[in-house]
Amino acid sequence: MIAVNDVTALSREGEVAVITINSPPVNALSAKVRDGLAEAFRRAIEDPDVNAIVLTCEGRTFIAGADIAEFGKPPQGISLPDLGNLIESSPKPVVAAIHGTALGGGLEVALCAHYRVAVQSAKCGFPEVNLGLLPGAGGTQRGTRLLGVEAALDMITSGRPLPAAKCRELGLIDPLAPEGELREAAIAFARDLIAQNKPLRKVRDSDEKIAPARAHPEIFENFRKENARKFRGLLAPEYCIRAVEAAVNMPFDEGMKVERRLFEELRDGPQSKALRYVFFAEREVWKIPDLPPGTPTIPVNTVGIIGAGTMGGGIAMNFLNAGMPVTIVETKQDGLDRGLSTIRRNYESAAKKGRMTAAEVETRMALLTGTLSLDDLANCDLVVEAVFENMDVKKDVFRKLDAIAKPGAILATNTSYLNIDEMAAVTTRPDCVIGLHFFSPANIMKLLEVVRAKETSKAVIATAMQLAKRIGKIGVLVQVGYGFVGNRMLAQRQREADALVLEGAAPWDVDRVLVEFGFPMGPFQMRDLAGLDLGWSRETSKSATIREVLCEMDRRGQKTNAGYYDYDENRKAKPSATVERLVEDFRAKSGVQTRRISDDEILERCLYPMINEGAKILEEGIAIGASDIDVVWINGYGWPRYRGGPMYYAGEIGLEKVLDNMRAWQAERGDAFKPAALLEKLVADGKTFRDVK
Ligand code: 3HC
Ligand code: NAI
Repeated sequence: MIAVNDVTALSREGEVAVITINSPPVNALSAKVRDGLAEAFRRAIEDPDVNAIVLTCEGRTFIAGADIAEFGKPPQGISLPDLGNLIESSPKPVVAAIHGTALGGGLEVALCAHYRVAVQSAKCGFPEVNLGLLPGAGGTQRGTRLLGVEAALDMITSGRPLPAAKCRELGLIDPLAPEGELREAAIAFARDLIAQNKPLRKVRDSDEKIAPARAHPEIFENFRKENARKFRGLLAPEYCIRAVEAAVNMPFDEGMKVERRLFEELRDGPQSKALRYVFFAEREVWKIPDLPPGTPTIPVNTVGIIGAGTMGGGIAMNFLNAGMPVTIVETKQDGLDRGLSTIRRNYESAAKKGRMTAAEVETRMALLTGTLSLDDLANCDLVVEAVFENMDVKKDVFRKLDAIAKPGAILATNTSYLNIDEMAAVTTRPDCVIGLHFFSPANIMKLLEVVRAKETSKAVIATAMQLAKRIGKIGVLVQVGYGFVGNRMLAQRQREADALVLEGAAPWDVDRVLVEFGFPMGPFQMRDLAGLDLGWSRETSKSATIREVLCEMDRRGQKTNAGYYDYDENRKAKPSATVERLVEDFRAKSGVQTRRISDDEILERCLYPMINEGAKILEEGIAIGASDIDVVWINGYGWPRYRGGPMYYAGEIGLEKVLDNMRAWQAERGDAFKPAALLEKLVADGKTFRDVK
């Protein structure tokens, strides 16, 4: 094997040249890889003894796409479309040998090859849309020609990778190769091509699958309509559709030009910039300064859950899905029965929707044991308590657990707000105590706040982060503090949402503004969904807030068909005249001068205090970095991903603007708006949150 540069190499197997990329971790198409490939292809094409070329990758995967870190920097080396043309116009057949994931630019390179061989475990996809982009190196043009319009639209706008067998069915892949024998199979395939003098099959020349769509231009409009909700607020899916339309209606080279123009517009726009930031932010969370890679972890094979309520059941499902046996404890038989049957019902409903088989439901349920005795948790490697949010109850559980759990077991709490150090202090092993703060519904929401208490050991933290990955969550390590990261910031938004209503905004206006910003729902819709009576009790209720009065009136949210909104039998919400009157009474009582409140003020009042709180969280070291806070808000609270998270957003609109507003509000309304010292400092130094680490 001859190195072409330090990431590409060329070797010869008789008349077949094998070009190999070795650029860990994922063989992304950096300038060096592109240049190396171009040089290797030129050499192989020029070599008179070579009659076919195989392109393969070392390491865990075929090319996983363009190098995302290069976007936004001055271009270097050969461009990807030019490299694609060089490969496609090779006079000698080119075979791409795919293992792992051929993604984005990686799949585009493979589509420039004349044939594609893949192992069964391989996947192909166009994930660009997740980065606010479209496949910009011929993917929309070649992909559509190979897949046909419907499959191309689906694959390109969803970003979902497809398994090799499915790709073969769709025409993306030619033969499948046995696992572990890809290189040999691809070379043998290339030899066959030579022996049979097979033609060069250039995707750009194929028309068969797109021709029928020319008579049906409505396909595109229908697709837009069907997906309008899913694509709300996003630019990239619409651009993908336009590029696919161009593939159908224009000659190849013209279509390529349209694709390039659309790609560049997206790449240079704010949504893609934010989404690329999020891509790296979601990988940054795993890198913990005082926890070097290789920190020892504790084997976790069996899990105990205490409390089979809303959270306990959902938490259990995560571990069952990962194939881990779970024992769940309740205080009374009826509570246990209810908890267990909810879990079964959730699985059965997933099976009905085709998301799992009936057999898979049973496999998961067989891993689940219900009990009324804490003693049954004696052998668990991890125990997560999800009992009522009450410190005395939690302490009691931890005390008992301490006496029962085996040495070395991890004792976790799902508390939303309470001080985990206090819980740890009632045990003889505070180093084993940690917070695992799941979000509701716990089997669905991606976020897991992993809360390290003062004495939590590094091994326990490293294990918790590893477990988060294992159950498919994004783990963000935070420290103890009221409401940790997410709920602490949420409280700011909720306070302002309530205040805005008293000052003159309608609850539905507040919700509308936040939904228009990109949240899936506004603060009042969220309250109605969660139940207004979370943390409320009739005995202590004093009619002091609109929420309290609504609870007293049994308007407790969606579950009672009434809350801030009225709900019809299909759970469709409409503004409530009762609430309108109630709000007016409250305004009159509170003596606040009501006024017309602009949408801008609603947005700023809801978001800036959150950002300010985020600054305090950073300052106090509760979160490790600003990007961690962004990941929490995107994955736990529906912050629109394409706006990068609150701290990123602050940088985009300018920290100065946030600070000026906070100062003005502080002067008008008091110290709830006191700017964080960090915010003041960053503005003074001309820096942003991303400079803090
Ligand atoms: N560019 C730069 N770095 C990349 C990268 C890429 N395309 N893909 C992955 N990486 C880096 C990650 O940042 C991470 O770095 P770190 O270890 O320093 O944090 C490392 O590679 C490993 O990545 P993961 O932790 O994500 O590893 P996994 O094994 O979990 O997943 C993967 C591997 C499925 C390839 C996943 O990394 C992935 O989905 N990557 C992105 C693929 C993608 O979006 N490709 C399209 C790029 S845009 C494009 O191609 C435009 C073209 O059309 C012109
Ligand atoms: P829940 O009231 O639905 O469930 C609590 C369950 O714990 C009940 O079924 C109760 O019978 C059981 N329980 C109480 N004491 C027990 C004991 N000593 N032994 C065994 N079981 C016991 O409450 P939910 O909503 O599931 O909350 C549980 C915890 O999760 C709380 O700490 C809460 O703050 C937290 N949390 C709740 C979220 C939510 O959205 N509901 C989100 C994130 C965290």
